[in-house]
Amino acid sequence: MKKITIAIDGHSSCGKSTMAKDLAREVGYVYVDTGAMYRSVTLYALRNNLFNEDGSVKTAELEKEMPNIKISFKFNAEAGRPDTYLNGECVEKEIRSLEVSNHVSPIAAVPFVRSAMVAQQQQMGKDKGVVMDGRDIGTTVFPDAELKIFVTASAQVRAQRRFDELKAKGMPADFDDILKNVEERDYIDSHREVSPLRKADDAIELDNSNMTILEQKKWLLDHFMKCSEQ
Ligand code: DC
Repeated sequence: MKKITIAIDGHSSCGKSTMAKDLAREVGYVYVDTGAMYRSVTLYALRNNLFNEDGSVKTAELEKEMPNIKISFKFNAEAGRPDTYLNGECVEKEIRSLEVSNHVSPIAAVPFVRSAMVAQQQQMGKDKGVVMDGRDIGTTVFPDAELKIFVTASAQVRAQRRFDELKAKGMPADFDDILKNVEERDYIDSHREVSPLRKADDAIELDNSNMTILEQKKWLLDHFMKCSEQ
């Protein structure tokens, strides 16, 4: 069986990371959550007052700070997946808050942020054997990935999933706020100038609105087997 690169792209909260994480664990690949990297930069920007009153980014200040933002992942055996670290601090919980979700799109649209993150992601996946999830993995980070999946689901279904996730973690959640955030992020992610969210021509599309996690898992594993046996 040859080692391959798996790119999983799609809208926010459509279950990409659950699928990607499960597959990586099952087949012994490294899992990289690229959204966590943009979220970590956002957390840093929030903590260091790098947003203007209107929510736009203080780009000149952020550019100066980029060398001070170090993002890494460490495998958490208990959770069965990597935790995200920002300058040595585990920020796995903080980066999932609604405040970070509400500020991440403008950060992810900044060209120098994207080029820094893409360079790190290419480095992390250079030896293949990686499952990477995000928005531009199949189009920009690994355009030659052997298996590309584009996942989608309706905005209502995705907002409900994020609501359930936050509730389960005991974090504050309001369904209407979450739905608004999902819709706004869809719009910004697909309309930004640099690497907008779009399906790569050779990606396989999966609408999982009416699928269980188990069904998705099997679907993805079947594609992985076919692809890595070729
Ligand atoms: O997957 P997520 O919701 O954790 O992603 C957070 C934000 O980061 C999302 O608004 C889009 C952005 N993102 C991106 O622009 N490119 C990626 N490869 C991953 C995420």
